[in-house]
Amino acid sequence: MKAQVVLSFLLTLLQSLCGFQGTSFSVFFNHLRSTNDEIVVGRYDEDIILPCSFENEPDVVIHWKNQDNYNVHSYYKGRDHLENQDPKFTNRTSLFYSKIQNGNASLYFRRLSLLDEGIYICYVGTAARQSTKKVVLKVGAFLTPAMKYEKRNTSSFLVCSVLSVYPRPHITWKADSAFVPGSITEETGYLGPFYVSSTLNITGSNSSYECVIKNPLLKQTWTGQWTQAGDLCKRQSEYVSLSCQGIRNFSLQNEDFIVTWSRMKSEISSILGCYMSSSQIPVINEPRFSWNKELQNQNDFSMTLTDLHLSDSGEYLCNISSRKYTLLTVHSLHIEPSQGKSSWIIPALVALGVWAVILTLIVNFRHRWRRYPVYGENRNIY
Ligand SMILES: *[C@@H]1O[C@H](CO)[C@@H](O)[C@H](O)[C@H]1NC(C)=O
Ligand SMILES: *[C@@H]1O[C@H](CO)[C@@H](O)[C@H](O)[C@H]1NC(C)=O
Ligand SMILES: *[C@@H]1O[C@H](CO)[C@@H](O)[C@H](O)[C@H]1NC(C)=O
Ligand SMILES: *[C@@H]1O[C@H](CO)[C@@H](O)[C@H](O)[C@H]1NC(C)=O
Ligand SMILES: *[C@@H]1O[C@H](CO)[C@@H](O)[C@H](O)[C@H]1NC(C)=O
Ligand SMILES: *[C@@H]1O[C@H](CO)[C@@H](O)[C@H](O)[C@H]1NC(C)=O
Ligand SMILES: *[C@@H]1O[C@H](CO)[C@@H](O)[C@H](O)[C@H]1NC(C)=O
Repeated sequence: MKAQVVLSFLLTLLQSLCGFQGTSFSVFFNHLRSTNDEIVVGRYDEDIILPCSFENEPDVVIHWKNQDNYNVHSYYKGRDHLENQDPKFTNRTSLFYSKIQNGNASLYFRRLSLLDEGIYICYVGTAARQSTKKVVLKVGAFLTPAMKYEKRNTSSFLVCSVLSVYPRPHITWKADSAFVPGSITEETGYLGPFYVSSTLNITGSNSSYECVIKNPLLKQTWTGQWTQAGDLCKRQSEYVSLSCQGIRNFSLQNEDFIVTWSRMKSEISSILGCYMSSSQIPVINEPRFSWNKELQNQNDFSMTLTDLHLSDSGEYLCNISSRKYTLLTVHSLHIEPSQGKSSWIIPALVALGVWAVILTLIVNFRHRWRRYPVYGENRNIY
């Protein structure tokens, strides 16, 4: 331990003397990384604490430096000395001032960026002893994963994407529980988090698809599921009941989630109703729409649409989403004009009746018109 401390100290000294910075030194430091270095994983744009403690004594000097020997934070004579702080740390660091007297030299580090990844050295000196400690900081990102369902002409496909992710995530697809490769993956991002998206065509007889996005560093997983629930054919003015259920694996109780029912017609979708578990208030946008069950503490978000119109034909999408997943259930609904007495027999009968009356009138009229003169003629003749 002592040897390591001395070595670190010598290196710091050497570095400041030679003024060398950058890669060669960080390579050097990476070699020095030992198993008992503390590894801290932070999240992009969030705050983190880099831990460091010492045996408390008065008149403490605390220096936090990074692997390139840039000054991150300095504290001595009972206060901060940030004159030599590297500008990239301005306003982003502080110590737990009330805890320093208890031997706490931890650094509070705000708004992490990916460039903050690296090794941080905490140097603590008192009259009696000196100590250094290394903290390895890793930064991960995983923001707004999503699954989109799109239709173009006759082909439909699914897109799973993450707006902001680091390091590169693993994306896997399943079609009816068999692993399949996702077709296209686009990636952008320079020195920043990646944007990653993967597309899969919906083909063949598969009725369900799943994509799983994993961030190995943050040990975070997101799942998107798409299920074709079926094709239904109904007649005008009837009603339809469409099912939508959460999956037992995804425990809805512990997570806030949103359920939306929408109708997709020629690439335009309109929301019929939605429910947020946090507010527990169901919202209805279409008067003919109703939820089938009480929604509180339920896993069943089935709905009924009454008094069907011809224009209700289309796809119905139930979307249950939380931070960890999106479950999409799709129903295809086709509405036909209603058949039976009410629709065409009565109008046909009425039309027939009208025709009958008109015909009778015409016949009668022509009959009389022809008869009178004939009768007259006859009378004149005879
Ligand atoms: C220092 O204090 C902060 C705030 O109470 C705490 O979160 C942190 O864990 C402490 N660090 C150590 C090394 O004790
Ligand atoms: C740091 O904070 C001070 C005071 O809030 C502000 O005036 C200054 O612009 C900030 N500097 C940076 C680099 O954000
Ligand atoms: C599902 O709902 C979530 C949360 O409201 C939303 O962010 C997402 O875009 C929706 N997905 C689809 C395919 O509609
Ligand atoms: C849809 O089909 C038409 C004609 O078949 C074609 O011109 C058009 O490019 C297609 N659109 C897409 C988005 O594939
Ligand atoms: C998916 O479908 C589009 C057209 O709809 C096609 O251009 C593309 O090659 C298909 N991808 C795969 C992997 O089949
Ligand atoms: C879907 O199912 C068909 C069989 O009907 C199969 O050939 C195809 O590879 C499956 N995979 C995908 C990604 O649709
Ligand atoms: C649900 O849980 C079972 C067993 O616990 C597991 O085999 C299955 O893969 C899980 N499904 C999902 C979608 O996580």
